[in-house]
Amino acid sequence: MSSHLKALVLAGGRGTRLRPLTYTMAKQLVPVANRPILHYVMDQVADCGIGEVGVILSPETGEQVKEALALNPWRLRFEWIEQDRPGGLAHAVKVARDFLGNTPFLMYLGDNLIGQPVRDVVATFEAERPDALILLKEVANPRQFGVAVVDGDGRVRRLVEKPKDPPSSLALVGVYCFSPAIHDVIATLAPSWRGELEITDAVQRLVEAGRPVRAVELTGWWLDTGKKDDLLEANRVVLDEWGRREIIGSVGEGSRVDGRVQLGPGAIVERSVVRGPAVIGANAVVRDSFIGPYTSVGDHCRVERSQVEHCVILDGSVVEDVERLEDSLIGRNTVVRRAGDNHRALRLMIGDDAEVAL
Ligand code: TTP
Repeated sequence: MSSHLKALVLAGGRGTRLRPLTYTMAKQLVPVANRPILHYVMDQVADCGIGEVGVILSPETGEQVKEALALNPWRLRFEWIEQDRPGGLAHAVKVARDFLGNTPFLMYLGDNLIGQPVRDVVATFEAERPDALILLKEVANPRQFGVAVVDGDGRVRRLVEKPKDPPSSLALVGVYCFSPAIHDVIATLAPSWRGELEITDAVQRLVEAGRPVRAVELTGWWLDTGKKDDLLEANRVVLDEWGRREIIGSVGEGSRVDGRVQLGPGAIVERSVVRGPAVIGANAVVRDSFIGPYTSVGDHCRVERSQVEHCVILDGSVVEDVERLEDSLIGRNTVVRRAGDNHRALRLMIGDDAEVAL
């Protein structure tokens, strides 16, 4: 299937909520099941049959984002678009004005993971041709999101950003389709109280102008990977739904690897139990340890004499003599090592290149 839409993928922003990881790493490149979130985004874009993709970059992390997309197995045509500051989602569209021209487009936030094909949403947009099509998902805490009021036939009546008194529990998911009419309304926007050009304001103006704005409710899962717990949840869901068994590395005698476990090339499991769903990256070593479900261990990591469950450990890190590590997100090249014999469970979020001795 090929589409005449372009895509605009937002991979800029500040990522303050994921600090310290985002001091050194673009938030869209944080791995879920050992793959950068941005790769799942590009899977979706390519699956829509879209060929041309504008990627919004920040001056700080632009180079690493380009590098992460350099292999380009999707064969997309990338156009790199630098946004000099995180001026808001509508600001990103403004910056991409020349790239987008008068072509309708799919806008996709580079840190959003969606558990169903976005292709179906794009097909609805192409069939109905509204000026905007937004994706909604019922959430328990609508105060934290942009929220939409929709009438019975899927027409959007009103949008509110982070409402104190939410008029509905349908939150805006980070995926939108727009006709070129969006550029005219963005041109009239002023910055919001937080100093950003808001895409919700732009869509609200389309509604006020009587232009057709439609909504599609997402039935599958949606994960916005903005914070540590969201990321652990994303890791859990992705391993649960898409995890598979693929043992390439070596499993020594006295070890057991149960269920859907991916063991990367050069990885070694010795005198250990790995219980899936889990992934263990290339050249990682797991020795005298237990790796429990919903755990991702990055490339070149070493886990020794430890129990790890429901954790994301990024490349090059070491976990040693830790009786039990749970619900933790560990940055790159970190060391977590038990120094004494204190038996408390550990719950940590540690940035890149940190060392913690407990
Ligand atoms: P947000 O999560 O709203 O913003 P952020 O990345 O600045 O994060 P935080 O709130 O933790 O500081 O952004 C959603 C996505 O859009 C994210 O992938 C970053 C991207 N983005 C841009 O590319 N340009 C922008 O101006 C903004 C605000 C976000």
